[in-house]
Amino acid sequence: MMNMDKLQYYFLPIFLLFRVLCAAGHAATAVNVSTIPFTKGFSPLFGEGNIIPSEDDRSVKLNLNQYTGSGFKSSDLYNHGYFSAKIKLPPDYTAGIVVAFYTTNGDIFRKTHDELDFEFLGNIRGKAWRFQTNMYGNGSTHRGREERYYLWFDPSKEFHSYSILWTTKNIIFYIDDVPIREIVRNDAMGADFPSKPMGLYATIWDASDWATSGGKYRANYEYAPFVAEFTDLVLHGCPSDPLEEVVGPDCSKMDDQLTSADFARITPKQKLAMKKFRSKSMYYSYCYDMLRYPVPPPECVIDPMERQLFKETGRLKFDIEKRHHRRSRKRGQVMGARNHGNQENV
Ligand SMILES: *[C@@H]1O[C@H](CO)[C@@H](O)[C@H](O)[C@H]1NC(C)=O
Ligand SMILES: *[C@@H]1O[C@H](CO)[C@@H](O)[C@H](O)[C@H]1NC(C)=O
Repeated sequence: MMNMDKLQYYFLPIFLLFRVLCAAGHAATAVNVSTIPFTKGFSPLFGEGNIIPSEDDRSVKLNLNQYTGSGFKSSDLYNHGYFSAKIKLPPDYTAGIVVAFYTTNGDIFRKTHDELDFEFLGNIRGKAWRFQTNMYGNGSTHRGREERYYLWFDPSKEFHSYSILWTTKNIIFYIDDVPIREIVRNDAMGADFPSKPMGLYATIWDASDWATSGGKYRANYEYAPFVAEFTDLVLHGCPSDPLEEVVGPDCSKMDDQLTSADFARITPKQKLAMKKFRSKSMYYSYCYDMLRYPVPPPECVIDPMERQLFKETGRLKFDIEKRHHRRSRKRGQVMGARNHGNQENV
């Protein structure tokens, strides 16, 4: 007969497996959308030789070497949607390198394009990764709406999901389950709120001139190739011909589905996580840059707790970087002083 110790020995792995299955099941029901194989949903944008799909077509690697970066785009454009991927960013020294994950229709509407961005800004080894989000509507490129933040984890260690929700009513940027930014549409925004079908894009490229400390730290190809990995790609929207003027009835059905989906509503718990993230990790928001926008653009919701973090210039009153990285504190403060605010222009 088995004694108790032995029983434990047998049941522990089963218990752990059960836990893992429960966690996976939970993640799947939270967002009821299916992933799409890479070649089914996407086509090359540039640097085709540096785009490496996995054998099962569920993942893809984008490489950057001394010759070229690379990028892909969805084969269709979507009239509103939920776009998502799990992404693992290149490790080690990544100064000067940008990985972008975004929706746009700039290929078709050169002067009146819409765009929603995640842009990850590479860094020197050991420092926290930074990223920014942005929105353009109908070619509003002279009205940047960027926010910049530190990531609260090392994005090169494992995959995290990054999602962009775009409905008729709002836009939410998610990292994993945390909504990090929400833009609620209002009439005063006019066409600055994206309104034409967009495709999903992902790129890796050399932005040495501005990405890291305003170009002070450039890409170093001794560390090449730089590889960004994408998996669990989601294109959940209404495929549309962008040159069609009228929205078809199929898209209004999808619009209803999107606005009522669980990911379109921020729960009280998520709201708390969002507040915590923004007050701890956001180091720039156009809404608090009074020099640039004496009157904040109409979608800005001024949060007193966020506002007290920023000076009139939009710069932080305190250096929050050291909270995110203690090891290179001294260097961080020098870099931080240079880098905060509106210096890393795209
Ligand atoms: C998830 O979506 C599928 C297909 O769109 C649908 O059949 C299913 O009922 C949905 N599941 C839940 C839990 O909403
Ligand atoms: C978008 O911009 C174009 C060019 O500036 C303008 O003609 C058009 O009216 C704008 N669209 C909307 C919906 O405001």
